[in-house]
Amino acid sequence: MRSVLSTISAAVAFITFSLQPLGAQETPIYSFKDRFHPVTAQNGMVASQEAVATRVGVKILKKGGNAVDAAIATGFALAVTLPRAGNLGGGGFMMIHMSGSGETTALDYREMAPAAAFKDMFLDAEGNPDKQKSRFSGLAIGVPGTVAGFAAAFDKYGSGNLTWAELVAPAIKLAEDGITVTPSLSAALMSAAPRLTKDPASAAIFYKQSTVPFLPGEILKQTDLASTLRLIAEQGAMGFYEGKVAENIAAKVQSAGGGMTVEDLASYQPVWRSAVTGNYRGYEIASMPPPSSGGIHIVQILNMLESYPLREFGPNSADTIHVMAEAMRRAYADRSKFLGDPDYVSVPAKGLTSRDYAAELIETIVLETATPSTEVKPGAPVPYESNETTHFSVVDKDGNAVSNTYTLNFSYGVGLTADGTGVLLNNELDDFSAKPGIPNAYGLIGGTANAVEGGKRPLSSMSPTLVFKDGEFHMATGSPGGSRIITTTLQIILNVVDHQMNIAEATAATRIHNQWLPDEIRVEEGLSPDTINLLEARGHEINVKNAMGSTQSIMRVDGVLAGASDPRRPGALTEGY
Ligand code: GLY
Repeated sequence: MRSVLSTISAAVAFITFSLQPLGAQETPIYSFKDRFHPVTAQNGMVASQEAVATRVGVKILKKGGNAVDAAIATGFALAVTLPRAGNLGGGGFMMIHMSGSGETTALDYREMAPAAAFKDMFLDAEGNPDKQKSRFSGLAIGVPGTVAGFAAAFDKYGSGNLTWAELVAPAIKLAEDGITVTPSLSAALMSAAPRLTKDPASAAIFYKQSTVPFLPGEILKQTDLASTLRLIAEQGAMGFYEGKVAENIAAKVQSAGGGMTVEDLASYQPVWRSAVTGNYRGYEIASMPPPSSGGIHIVQILNMLESYPLREFGPNSADTIHVMAEAMRRAYADRSKFLGDPDYVSVPAKGLTSRDYAAELIETIVLETATPSTEVKPGAPVPYESNETTHFSVVDKDGNAVSNTYTLNFSYGVGLTADGTGVLLNNELDDFSAKPGIPNAYGLIGGTANAVEGGKRPLSSMSPTLVFKDGEFHMATGSPGGSRIITTTLQIILNVVDHQMNIAEATAATRIHNQWLPDEIRVEEGLSPDTINLLEARGHEINVKNAMGSTQSIMRVDGVLAGASDPRRPGALTEGY
């Protein structure tokens, strides 16, 4: 009976939206003008980059698990099905909203520098940054946070209806029975082969005869990973941070020139932090605080943009792109100076997210002309494309919501697997500033606030975000994409709030990005030549490059869930029930 009623009420909601005059609904689920449509559901929903992992999460919801339970099960499954970014050997951030208590909190399970790390450890004999050290050696590997993070989320916010072992079980089965290799996994393994096949442990898992990538349709088994997951299922986080797994991780890092010890692993702790909050045109924003730069700069940019009539300017018009780019430029300049691990440096979060400061900044924005970035602050970045990191969003039938972004940094991290564990290791410590003023792999410049130090967490751009309307959950969103994560997540918010797009349209819309240095507006295919001409006439350099981000978003509008996985990368799935 319940499901019949749900179906009827979903249908009524659907028709209601379709009959409303355009623009009457702030974020319409359905309109005849739309070309892209969200997945809709009444109860719960999961949006992730990989279909099998999404289905694992939905199954947990159907079994009575809450959004946190489903997020944990999805996260473990992604470590098996999306090995380039899903992980046990990396770290990330989880935003959690519990509808009963109304609390919204941020869980930091970012990787930590081993105790032996020190300020100049990524410099060569001449005192210049050595990319080999910071990206491809044992020194690049941070103490992983994912397993401890998931365990902390489970202990504090799990429903209690399902055991920890039940949440790890689907991942064990996928690793043990094997997954059917998708075209996207096969292509990712093909392009990572030069790095991964150098490590015998990685080569033995991901390549036939240690050299040949699996083809679409073939079965990839990860038996060592299954054993590690089994230890985690039986012993909790201890199964990863102590004993054989920890010993093998430390040994592998040391054999690659790093200084991580079993003590570093045993002492790893995730941290509960207060969300960065802001208010944009009546919507409340809650996003990730430092050591992420995401929340602060999303709120800072929104504060600046609130002064402009973006809806009137129109989506991706020259005026809209100009003011977005100018606001982004100023925020990324601040990022380079002020942001770092708040447990080590004082980050002026309140100042950066204050409306007074935004007002000061927009005084310097001229509508007719671009401000050259050299006038904001100098620098000399190198371009680098990295697509990895992955985001998922989960909402359950009670309105609890999770927005989670986690990563190994590069695709397949450092490319090394800890022997006998199946655990791919990250190269997250490249997100530190090896030397003030010198860009990292994403072209991001950092200052002393983000210098390397033992026990410290490197600055991140990962921006899992929750949006509320009148205190009620409205949207969970986030993205991979290195330095573009912040601006990608921002544009989902702008497309929904200002441009009244449904979440699928908001996701598909052409994206732009300015990160202060290089002094360019990077754009995706899809802007008209005359828009580009208008922007160039204002002094912007416009560069059309690869697609940016892969958002996984879920909204709730009048009790109906509407979700969308980004069409930019294959294999993603949003599913509800
Ligand atoms: N490794 C990318 C980030 O955390 O922003």
